[in-house]
Amino acid sequence: MIENSLWHPVAQAHEVVDAPLGVQLLDQPLVLWRDPQGQVRVFVDRCPHRGARLSMGRVENGHLECPYHGWQFADSGQCVKVPALPSFTPPPSQCVKAFEAQEAYGLVWVRLATGEELSAVPALAALAALPAFEAEADAHLRKLNCGPYDVAASAPRIIENFLDMSHFGFVHEGWLGSRDATAIEAYAVETTATGVLATGCKAVQPQSNLHSTSAAEVEYTYEVTAPYAAVLTKLPESGTTRAGWRESIALFICPVTPETSRVWFRLAVADFDSPDAQLQEFQHTIFCQDQPVLESQQPKCLPLDPRAEMHSAADRMSSAYRRYLRASGITFGVC
Ligand code: FES
Ligand code: CO
Repeated sequence: MIENSLWHPVAQAHEVVDAPLGVQLLDQPLVLWRDPQGQVRVFVDRCPHRGARLSMGRVENGHLECPYHGWQFADSGQCVKVPALPSFTPPPSQCVKAFEAQEAYGLVWVRLATGEELSAVPALAALAALPAFEAEADAHLRKLNCGPYDVAASAPRIIENFLDMSHFGFVHEGWLGSRDATAIEAYAVETTATGVLATGCKAVQPQSNLHSTSAAEVEYTYEVTAPYAAVLTKLPESGTTRAGWRESIALFICPVTPETSRVWFRLAVADFDSPDAQLQEFQHTIFCQDQPVLESQQPKCLPLDPRAEMHSAADRMSSAYRRYLRASGITFGVC
């Protein structure tokens, strides 16, 4: 499965401490823990002895200890202690499967494929890196996360919702849109090395951000940066009380099962004054408007056959996203 070769977010970095944390990625239960050197370790969440959940255990002497018979596993996954046999040295075959992890954007990222499986998919070379988020490196923008949200929808449905402006006047009436201004001007879509880019996306928004005092015309760019990641950049508004306001929001999704997802937003904003909670509240309000509609969509998988659902010219970004998923060979969360 090609999805196994991609990096996926699985937890907030600060949640992973010297106690095991159970998560699920692509139907696979995983246990995360932080070793004494501060490195995040990721194993299959199943003890190779009798199948107990390792995430119910604890970290003991820098090793992950199973809750059932106390077998201990070193950071490589190697079993280093069998308490029932104190003088026994477990052989290399006595181990639990370990995966690669890295930290970025305040999140822990994991990929399930290992060496050989990775080299088997050269077409995915462009996607071998973490999804890009350009605003992360901009010192003039403050970064914070919002989430997680556990959503009963597939990751691609959630990405597509994020790319879609024509729902603003209905789902986000009075916030990002109004029923009196629902027309979508033509915008440009192009493919990139890692996804799809839409530019010149314009909307009149009653309350486009936390500081809006009146309706403003805003211009966005939307970029799909990986199959389950996207970035929205709001270009500076003119003629508002906060001219020069700009922000970038990344959507990072953990595909938990084909029909459920865990969602984070990474906000990069020019506002260094408002408390975190206030910035998160705006995003939270918007996403809580999206969530019930997202969870109502049928089928839960995103249909890649262009004949499966109907499209309008306003949907050209979503159509481009579907073509991109098809070309990537993605199978999880699509149909
Ligand atoms: Fe894990 Fe026995 S099931 S030590
Ligand atoms: Co929405």
